[in-house]
Amino acid sequence: MKILVTGGAGFIGSHTCVSLLENGYDVLVYDNLSNSSEESLRRVEKITGKKVEFVKGDILDKEKLNEVLSKDKFDACIHFAGLKAVGESVEKPWEYYQNNIAGTLNLVDAMRNNGCKSIIFSSSATVYGDPAEIPITENCPKGTCTNPYGWTKSMLEQVLSDIQKADNEWNVILLRYFNPIGAHKSGTMGENPNGIPNNLMPYITQVAVGKLKELGVFGDDYDTPDGTGVRDYIHVVDLAEGHVAALKKIKENCGLAIYNLGTGVGYSVLDIVKNFEEANDIKIPYSIKPRRAGDIAACYCDPSKAKAELGWEAKNGIKEMCEDSWRWQKNNPNGYEN
Ligand code: NAD
Ligand code: UFG
Repeated sequence: MKILVTGGAGFIGSHTCVSLLENGYDVLVYDNLSNSSEESLRRVEKITGKKVEFVKGDILDKEKLNEVLSKDKFDACIHFAGLKAVGESVEKPWEYYQNNIAGTLNLVDAMRNNGCKSIIFSSSATVYGDPAEIPITENCPKGTCTNPYGWTKSMLEQVLSDIQKADNEWNVILLRYFNPIGAHKSGTMGENPNGIPNNLMPYITQVAVGKLKELGVFGDDYDTPDGTGVRDYIHVVDLAEGHVAALKKIKENCGLAIYNLGTGVGYSVLDIVKNFEEANDIKIPYSIKPRRAGDIAACYCDPSKAKAELGWEAKNGIKEMCEDSWRWQKNNPNGYEN
């Protein structure tokens, strides 16, 4: 089976390529490298001992997408490509709607033109907004997003669902990721953010490696056990395996399906700091800062639907997530630029 992986050079995409190759799938990665490096794919090849076919291309380039999809027979597409910085999306909404929405419409059009009607889409817990219930099940209503990035995910879920409803030859799986952290156990692949990280774990690892002075904890007055924000952190390798499980489901002609991919366990910011310090024997200096605009108090899922229907569940706990994040950062202080 051959899988088209858009955005496959990125953080989650590259780890998913490892899982796909290890499970006997062939992959072609289509990525414009706007937020990644081809070096991640060389590391995938080193880990798996297998070749990764790569086309440098943009999902906004209709012709190139049609060329790629017409040359080969793809059984499915896993669609990671997209811009994902929440704050930047508030500054540049047009660019986010254009890249994520217009790009996905191009992709879907090229897929149907070439007889590939199975797609796994990278959605996000952000579509629940400030969740109506916790733990969040897939039946929890979608909410109001606080930024254009979130809206692109919410709108694309609607677009892909409508396309599947109108043509039941389509199989669409929407995977709502919670908070991916961690890295491949080899310490050769991990998250490689540009500039100062927005997300908690890469910020912590950059403090640990001495690139940043201290962590700012955004708010300690939330209605949570210690007042700091609670999230459902999931190891990126577990998340990658979730895509392999979803591909098996797609082979059964599943129609439209939606799954939360998380662990079901919520950790606060201070829990993460403490677990990171204990797992790696490193002190993380921090200070309490005001709340960050758009943040919610708590967000964690009920992952039982994915377990029941995909036979998938996260295997790594918080200790492994902290150890693996640190191994990657320590071995690669400048990410893939080493
Ligand atoms: P990432 O930025 O590391 O990977 C995205 C990849 O897409 C990058 O390699 C980038 O170069 C590529 N890309 C962007 N625009 C493109 C375009 N127009 N054409 C071709 N390639 C393009 O991000 P990630 O963390 O690996 O996230 C993967 C997907 O999962 C994204 O869609 C993201 O929105 C979604 N997601 C991520 C998180 C998270 O916290 N990391 C949470 C929920 C959902
Ligand atoms: N936090 C800090 N200091 C930091 C960074 C984060 O205290 O320097 C806190 C946040 O306030 C929040 C928690 O750490 O309480 C997690 O924040 P992240 O930025 O790591 O993650 P978010 O939950 O805000 O958002 C992430 C992705 C979104 C995605 C969402 C749900 O960035 O794209 O998870 O999947 F939509």
